[in-house]
Amino acid sequence: MSADRPRIALLATGGTIAGAAASRTATGYQAGVIGPQALLAAVPELADVADVQAEQLFAIDSKNMSDALMLQLARRASELLAESGVAGLVITHGTDTLEESAYLLHLLLKSAKPVVFTGAMRPGNALSTDGPANLYQAACVAASPAAAGLGVLVVMNGAIWSARDVGKQDAAALHAFGSPHGPLGRLAGSSPRFYRAPSRAHTLHSQFSLQRLHALPPVGIVSAWAGMSAAPYEALAASGARGIVHAGFGAATVPDHLLPTLRSLRARGLPIVRASRTGAGPLPCTSDLQEGGLLADDQNPLQARLLLALGLAHGADTAGLQELFMRY
Ligand code: SIN
Repeated sequence: MSADRPRIALLATGGTIAGAAASRTATGYQAGVIGPQALLAAVPELADVADVQAEQLFAIDSKNMSDALMLQLARRASELLAESGVAGLVITHGTDTLEESAYLLHLLLKSAKPVVFTGAMRPGNALSTDGPANLYQAACVAASPAAAGLGVLVVMNGAIWSARDVGKQDAAALHAFGSPHGPLGRLAGSSPRFYRAPSRAHTLHSQFSLQRLHALPPVGIVSAWAGMSAAPYEALAASGARGIVHAGFGAATVPDHLLPTLRSLRARGLPIVRASRTGAGPLPCTSDLQEGGLLADDQNPLQARLLLALGLAHGADTAGLQELFMRY
């Protein structure tokens, strides 16, 4: 342990950053098979940045992430952040559901210390893998006092994103992540440069907490398609969903033939939040708000699902749920 380097914790959960392919050019690979010590060993330059203590929490392909695992991740992250010697936290995660885990922790963690998610689009042994550079830059951000108090961050391909509005927008490119509002900052080599800060509530200013939160209530998403049927709504309601996010067309619109179904589900006590399947844009208020309809503001359907689930878990009523979408 060095007196002049901060100590940061690395929590490994699997993903492509910990993936290995049969050869340097193979397209198929297995995610989550390289342990955190090997990830660190691939980036000896980390020793210039921080003392890194690593632990493996999961070793999964993040397509297998679940609400229960996300809560487990939030709990372990919370314990590590409570350690006085830990200055910041890096979480390695598969990119496929990284934005969901990052947003849940953004709403739940009670710490101003930097928390930085990162991953990779190419496995560790691929030609021009991005994992080591992403891990290095994530550690640079986690070790930086400038990153404190900004909520949970995502570092990928030289950009620093807020967990509030980042999303995976490309299945293959190294610049896979984006946000309608742009990055909070960029890295000049090892130096994080921030250009803006999140204005919506998070972490220390969030009303949500891990205490007494044992599970998230089931909330599903139905994506609209031209000519869609009501079947997915009825199926979700029958499966015991406590809320539904409607990923609607454009400004989160609902086809006319579906309105009676949504009204009837709302009358049965099932909140329906309208988000846009475009994933961006502040939604205009429409008359269904008077009837108990809910609007996700600009949140994409994935993030709206988590906020709705947390609101329900904390006992928010319809008006309270709508307020959440304007506050977070
Ligand atoms: C995963 O999400 O675990 C696999 C894909 C990736 O990390 O890019």
